Amino acid sequence: MRGVSTSHPPTRSFQPRRRALPPARAERYQRLLTQWALPVTGEMLCFEDLFAAAGCNPEVVLDIGFGGGEGLIELAAIRPAEALIGVDVHTPGVATVLEAIDTEGWQHVRVVEGDVLELLPRIPVSSLAGVRLFFPDPWPKNKQRHRRLARPDVVTRLVDRLRIGGTLHVATDIADYATQTLAVCGAEPRLSGGIVPRPSWRPLTRFERRGLDEGRTPTDLIYERTS
Ligand SMILES: C[S@@+](CC[C@H](N)C(=O)[O-])C[C@H]1O[C@@H](n2cnc3c(N)ncnc32)[C@H](O)[C@@H]1O
Repeated sequence: MRGVSTSHPPTRSFQPRRRALPPARAERYQRLLTQWALPVTGEMLCFEDLFAAAGCNPEVVLDIGFGGGEGLIELAAIRPAEALIGVDVHTPGVATVLEAIDTEGWQHVRVVEGDVLELLPRIPVSSLAGVRLFFPDPWPKNKQRHRRLARPDVVTRLVDRLRIGGTLHVATDIADYATQTLAVCGAEPRLSGGIVPRPSWRPLTRFERRGLDEGRTPTDLIYERTS
């Protein structure tokens, strides 16, 4: 008789999927990974060392789940003084960002292929100027909500890593996700903020475009760490 497992699967906010790159791109990707990517686990990061060559502050922003990378790349191009760490599990998107870093010679952008929850222990507390969570995976069913990144345990860990005055910016076109974010961030005593008009600087990505085409309206929520 088979034993019944009592262990729970990890609360992943993403569906693991393998997307192979074409051979020529895969070769470049492997090279760029070793050059420009940060391993998801390892020692605590030192932002001063990491971005020394960029000559930026460094005011470091963490972009969680950049997807295809087009929004991250657009902002990186117009904000060279902003140090940016992008993290996603989606290999083609990671490859696109790595190619942009290499082509543009960017010293102010680094990328991590992996789960942000595994990366967080590498990020010093009270260090980030900003966290971006744009169009996180919606997990629309009731039984899937515990997978959402805007859940209490994750928000607590993100706020720990924001410096005082740093901001958490969530954008979503799932009404119920916005409601959950309002509730979770509203219950976090170190945060102050709420719904804001769509900032004109936030790039329009294909995820947002698809939602607009399907009749959904995005909501932006910006919170500042106040204590
Ligand atoms: C719907 S896409 C949004 C992409 C992009 N932010 C945009 O606005 O176009 C959500 C992305 O989050 C990524 N993601 C989900 N959970 C993640 C996690 N725990 N760590 C890193 N990336 C994650 C997914 O792989 C996916 O690429």
